[in-house]
Amino acid sequence: MNGRQMNDDGRLTVRTALVTGGASGIGAACARELAASGAKVIVADRDSEGAAVVAAETGGEAWTIDLLDTAALEDLQLDVDILVNNAGVQSVRPIEEFVPDDFRRIHRLMLEAPFLLIRAALPAMYRKGFGRIINLSSVHGIRASPFKSAYVSAKHGLEGLSKVTALEGGKHGVTSNCINPGYVRTPLMENQIADQAQAHNISEDEVLASIMLTESAIKRLVEPEEVASLVGWLASDHAGMVTGSSYVMDGGWSAR
Ligand SMILES: NC(=O)c1ccc[n+]([C@@H]2O[C@H](COP(=O)([O-])OP(=O)(O)OC[C@H]3O[C@@H](n4cnc5c(N)ncnc54)[C@H](O)[C@@H]3O)[C@@H](O)[C@H]2O)c1
Repeated sequence: MNGRQMNDDGRLTVRTALVTGGASGIGAACARELAASGAKVIVADRDSEGAAVVAAETGGEAWTIDLLDTAALEDLQLDVDILVNNAGVQSVRPIEEFVPDDFRRIHRLMLEAPFLLIRAALPAMYRKGFGRIINLSSVHGIRASPFKSAYVSAKHGLEGLSKVTALEGGKHGVTSNCINPGYVRTPLMENQIADQAQAHNISEDEVLASIMLTESAIKRLVEPEEVASLVGWLASDHAGMVTGSSYVMDGGWSAR
């Protein structure tokens, strides 16, 4: 059971899941997966139209929010059972050309906002004795690539945040884990291919063949639904003893 839980008295409780960046790519696939397993899904995204489409499709609700406005998250109280920290962006530049504000923006969205959302969600999870924090990290949470200083450092930070959450949440029935995909077929990825093509002055096909999939044993992109299925499992009762872990889904990239 992912989104529904049988109580001691035999009643069925519907779980609520908040998915950030749920309007597109991996987040939208997660919203579909969790809804299919019975959860009520809140699709949080700055893209209000996209969030409304996914919310309508999954029978959930849309929450239009710009997670870069972290001051607004400081007093937030969330009553959700499953929190999927997924919203993310990328910027590809050598360090000496990396715009400091872009670095700060990426860390705010991909590290500070997850911290504030976890902080907002834990009290209700602790009261209920159940919670699932699922952080969309990346193979770049455990490996580095050139030109991605902000992204790689934010994801490495997210790994640490996830482990601390696991240690604090354990006695309250709250688990926290990371998922570390290789390159996934989403709009974020399509933008990266275009950026890399520009940075290296090569075609987009060459970017895939000679940069992105060189380390992978399996030479294809990960599909969003494959990532979402792992999210569904981590959210389920079967994964109750899984915490403080990071699950790679990278076609063998990090096996090297
Ligand atoms: N695509 C990949 O290859 C890949 C690989 C590993 C990890 N990831 C991670 O998976 C996550 C999702 O990536 P994706 O590829 O599905 O991206 P995507 O671009 O398809 O979707 C990201 C979503 O986040 C939303 N978002 C961006 N900034 C926001 C903000 N300030 N406030 C609220 N919402 C905001 C966007 O509107 C969009 O709907 C990211 O954390 C990314 O780092 C992606």
